[in-house]
Amino acid sequence: MHRSLLTGGSPVLGGVSVDRIRVRGGRGLQGAIAVSGSKNSALPILAATLLVDGPVRLRNVPYLSDVDNMCRILKALGMRVDRHANGDLELEAVDKTVQQAPYELVRTMRASFVVLGAIWARRGQAVVSYPGGCVIGHRPVDLHIKGLTGLGGRIVTRDGYVVLTGPVQGGTVFLGGNYGSTVLGTANVLMAAVLGRGPSILEGVAMEPEIEDLCHFLNACGARIRGIGGHCLVVDGVDNLHGCEWTIIPDRIEAGTFLIGAVMTNSPVTVMGARPEHLLAVVDRLQAAGAQIESGPDFLRNLPTRSGRVAAVDMTTLPYPGFPTDLQAQFMALMAQAKGVSVITEKVYPERFIHAAEMQRLGARIRREGPSAIIEGSDRLTGAPVMASDLRASAGLVLAGLVASGHTDVRRVYHIDRGYERIEQKLQDIGADIERISDG
Ligand code: EPZ
Repeated sequence: MHRSLLTGGSPVLGGVSVDRIRVRGGRGLQGAIAVSGSKNSALPILAATLLVDGPVRLRNVPYLSDVDNMCRILKALGMRVDRHANGDLELEAVDKTVQQAPYELVRTMRASFVVLGAIWARRGQAVVSYPGGCVIGHRPVDLHIKGLTGLGGRIVTRDGYVVLTGPVQGGTVFLGGNYGSTVLGTANVLMAAVLGRGPSILEGVAMEPEIEDLCHFLNACGARIRGIGGHCLVVDGVDNLHGCEWTIIPDRIEAGTFLIGAVMTNSPVTVMGARPEHLLAVVDRLQAAGAQIESGPDFLRNLPTRSGRVAAVDMTTLPYPGFPTDLQAQFMALMAQAKGVSVITEKVYPERFIHAAEMQRLGARIRREGPSAIIEGSDRLTGAPVMASDLRASAGLVLAGLVASGHTDVRRVYHIDRGYERIEQKLQDIGADIERISDG
């Protein structure tokens, strides 16, 4: 067994943590809980450093196994990656001849497919493994491919790899799909476009704050992107990018998870470092359910209510600025103990409901109807051993454990370590009865 070098985190066996998290429910929470840097902003920005000539210094990069994985891939791609004592990550391309991202590395994390556009644009050709299947549902990469082809790329599939060649000409591409736009697809195409020979118009792009952060980072390195934050990005290609220092935005999904936990336990909790403007849809649903939420420029606070339990409200996940799919499991945990019946509809990943069966093991009354779940709230959840299926599902199960009587053991904690930095310590610090138990 060894400890992760970059995260300094939990013990891992063959790369997989053998821990479980035990939560004893029924305790109120109190105090301030700090949000870490955004995982889903850090990952594409890390990939974007492949485009840059000279060192890049990134602040507020969370200590997560997904970040470790991306760093491992970047090292295999000839990057120098150093974590400084103060937590900053410094990256610099030292060997710009490597063009191939191997299956063994890409299969560990789908997000690594986002290196494709950057390798192609900076190194002339990219050979990147297709990421393969995913537990949260069908996750094709057709929009990535369409966008890169639209910029002039020639693509063939060879032995499970995408081989992308030809100069980045630039062009006009439309990135909308049946389920909205694509976050990592937008990042992939944008990274190629910034070094394009000609201008590009990317229409129907994802408007997630993580894409906005990537755009601002690239501009700080000398890229010329306009329309940031909107549905159409206009990019004037430049010859090269230079290094910069950049601070990753706070993680809106982690912030939303803590806020939902505070509402579930009816606790006075301040989520520090949260950007309320990134969580408008979430606060809207929580307020509709009867929660009292206060906000300031960099915090969100739950105020306890007299009634304690919230009312059931319907919720539909949508691309940003809609309610994020990455908070669907956590919201389901809330609705499982709400007063009344709610309907949760998944419009981003219609199959992302594996956690529902695990929540049923805690006594939650949940029924699937196609892309929806119908939840009959109950104040009698009881602890049980449960299995995490993905990282947001794990967070939903931890939240359910906070209100279930007895104890809940969440197994396969390696999922949660992918996206939540020291979650058990952070929750402990505000009064939760939660611990990590090592089975190793
Ligand atoms: C990002 O994944 C996030 N990952 C996911 O978070 C998040 O759930 C998702 O966006 C949606 O918000 C990272 O940022 C690293 P998409 P991404 O392409 O970009 C369909 C987490 O837990 N689609 O925006 O891969 C797709 O099937 C992770 O942190 C196509 O049809 O998601 C889905 O229905 C899980 N063709 C929808 O679009 C494509 O080529 C949105 O997916 C690409 C996507």
